[in-house]
Amino acid sequence: MYLDSIKNFTIKDDAIIMGIETSCDETAVSIVKNGREVLSDVIISSATEHAKFGGVVPEIASRAHTTAIYQATERALKDAGLTFDDIDGFAVTYGAGLLGALLVGVSYAKTLAYCFNKPLIPVSHIRGHMAASYIADKSLQPPFISLLTSGGHTAVIAVKSYYEIEVLGSTLDDAVGEAFDKVARVLGLSYPGGPSVERLAKQGQPTIKLPKMFKGQGGYNFSYSGLKTAVINAVHNAEQKGEDLSKADVACSFQSAALDILAQKAVEACKQFKYDTISLCGGVAANGYLRDKVSSLANKSNIKVVLPEKRYCTDNGCMIAAEGYLQYKKGNFADLSLNASANVTLK
Ligand SMILES: Nc1ncnc2c1ncn2[C@@H]1O[C@H](COP(=O)(O)OP(=O)(O)OP(=O)(O)O)[C@@H](O)[C@H]1O
Ligand SMILES: [Mg+2]
Repeated sequence: MYLDSIKNFTIKDDAIIMGIETSCDETAVSIVKNGREVLSDVIISSATEHAKFGGVVPEIASRAHTTAIYQATERALKDAGLTFDDIDGFAVTYGAGLLGALLVGVSYAKTLAYCFNKPLIPVSHIRGHMAASYIADKSLQPPFISLLTSGGHTAVIAVKSYYEIEVLGSTLDDAVGEAFDKVARVLGLSYPGGPSVERLAKQGQPTIKLPKMFKGQGGYNFSYSGLKTAVINAVHNAEQKGEDLSKADVACSFQSAALDILAQKAVEACKQFKYDTISLCGGVAANGYLRDKVSSLANKSNIKVVLPEKRYCTDNGCMIAAEGYLQYKKGNFADLSLNASANVTLK
């Protein structure tokens, strides 16, 4: 029944897509028109429940999604002044992420698609992060360079068209967000680590010598494990020797060592491809130092920078609806056998 209808759905010129995101600790449901215009944006986070454990506890996240998802959807519809009948497609993150958490969103989206007989649109979480740029700049069109910096990914990507991307380089080990979270932990800062490190870094100076990444080699690849270990060693050595090491200086030194290279490589890539725009995405793109660094470097080369609002950098439903719209236009619909996937290749 539903299987037959997915071949026959009419693809409308104007489409209102509901984006459902449950890959980690945010239950996010948003409604976006034509992939650009946000009609509603609801995020119910279970972050405070994870804070006492210093990181996301998968089972707690999954349970929190099951209790929050209905409420998030009701609010998203109410805020947009719409009913389910107005929704043209249900886009959902099918991966990557925590399997149990993803399954809540996928099952929910399947149910809605089936009940209202509307397309079920599978969305890659990372493609979603990248699509947040289209909400940030309503006139943005490929090609451009996407600098993806999140909790699980770090990559410089050439966005050649709405559908074709080329990953120019990525991290060989830890993601930059993961490094922020680990450094926050060793400095005794609260979860989530990234914003805590950024806040503390503002009070410090970059006085601590840390290894520079690749020194210009390595193409567009990155490596954060050496930098992370150097920070951990510096803190532990000082503790053992009873030396007074300024945590603010550690945070500030780490932040510049981790982020300067991202800005440099994104600008290099943009020049190499002769593109005129760089767009930032992923949770670390909320970092003010990174936003300023990319902007000032790009400005010197007349490159435009798209900086999504901070709430669209970290996980949200709008980005899933924005990418969902692109997939909707292509008729990329799933049937009810859609499953969640912990890992998804970036392509
Ligand atoms: N202001 C900030 N400065 C630095 N890092 C930040 C900031 N805000 C958030 N982050 C980091 O961003 C990450 C969260 O981003 P995001 O939600 O995109 O990651 P994720 O969904 O866990 O991973 P992925 O998207 O790769 O699957 C965390 O590692 C967090 O510490
Ligand atoms: Mg994410």
